[in-house]
Amino acid sequence: MEYPDRRNTYKLTTEEYEKILAFKRDLHMHPELSGKEVRTTEKIREFLSEIPSIEILPLPVNTGLVARLRGEGAGPEVMLRADIDALPQTEQVESPYKSQNPGVMHACGHDFHTASLLGGILLLERARKDGAFQGTADFVFQPAEEGTTGARMMIDAGLFDLIHPGCCFGMHNWPSVRTGNIVCHEGPLMSAKRNLEIHIFGAGGHGSMPHLNIDPIVCAGAMVQSLQTVVSRNINPLDSVVLSINMIQGGSPVNLVVDRVMMKATIRSLSESALDRAIERVETIVEKTAQAYECRSEILWNERIPSVWNSPEMTKIAKECAAATGCRVTDAPPSLASEDFSLYRSFAPSFFYWVGSTAEGDTVEELHRPKFCTDDTALHYGAQLYAASVLEMIHIYKS
Ligand code: NI
Repeated sequence: MEYPDRRNTYKLTTEEYEKILAFKRDLHMHPELSGKEVRTTEKIREFLSEIPSIEILPLPVNTGLVARLRGEGAGPEVMLRADIDALPQTEQVESPYKSQNPGVMHACGHDFHTASLLGGILLLERARKDGAFQGTADFVFQPAEEGTTGARMMIDAGLFDLIHPGCCFGMHNWPSVRTGNIVCHEGPLMSAKRNLEIHIFGAGGHGSMPHLNIDPIVCAGAMVQSLQTVVSRNINPLDSVVLSINMIQGGSPVNLVVDRVMMKATIRSLSESALDRAIERVETIVEKTAQAYECRSEILWNERIPSVWNSPEMTKIAKECAAATGCRVTDAPPSLASEDFSLYRSFAPSFFYWVGSTAEGDTVEELHRPKFCTDDTALHYGAQLYAASVLEMIHIYKS
């Protein structure tokens, strides 16, 4: 079959659209935090159980799930991923579908991603019945993307012992892009990241006797200042690096010098080598500053999350998939936000889309903001894009 004939073949029917829209609204009203997506997982399971050809794979995880659809005959194995968790925020959008879970909100649109993937599954199931689907599609509903721990958890639970995809596709809604546009960006799209905790140990005592104490608060102050020089003095200005100290914890309510201060920080970059350099400088500055103030220091590093990076080969394929939805294929500047979808890249070639999710004329409300929402009609494109990504790989496999 030639490519143009395949364009726009699989679109949601009104009934299918209404079904996934209701699903999205239900998730939106019942958001759950990272690692606590119990009801969400159950709802996904219920939805999938109505499709007899879908197999739920036995991945031993508390939340999230992996499902599979097999077509008739030989074909590629393609993994599609959607994240399912919400954020600890209070929603300020007044609608009948407002969050009913106080202090928790789908402020990143993972409800949109989940509903889109379910829509994609409905389309692929139709393709299967039509004999247009060969091979295997693996559907990964990933928990705990916020905080970037969910992908690692699924991988460690044995995800890639159960599935062996030849490639992976993921997406994020992108509010600054209008509905009907899909961003297919080649190269680094989202930031590499390393979070850390810095512990500074001094020696506490009476506040009136500084000569008998070692004050970790003064040391922490010097450290915060010195760490600002990493970005301004050590990094090529043409590379983007962010180094933020997001928390300082330490002190006493009385006249007492404390023993210990803890700080939390994040370092991000689109360039892995710039991130290497920043990490190296942070290690030196923390150790030597502590030494200068007669303190002792320790750094606890979180797992390094690589950048979301789209290869030229995968970008070429992804553009075809995006075009098949009838959307405008476009580009956008990368973001210093992180995404643990990047961890799947060490198992199979991967591509990450941004899907326009603000209706023409509507005010753009960015991700993680209390007035954030996704345009319902963009669900059509989200669903079609997931399905098209599998169908395109089948097309390539056959040709
Ligand atoms: Ni997100």
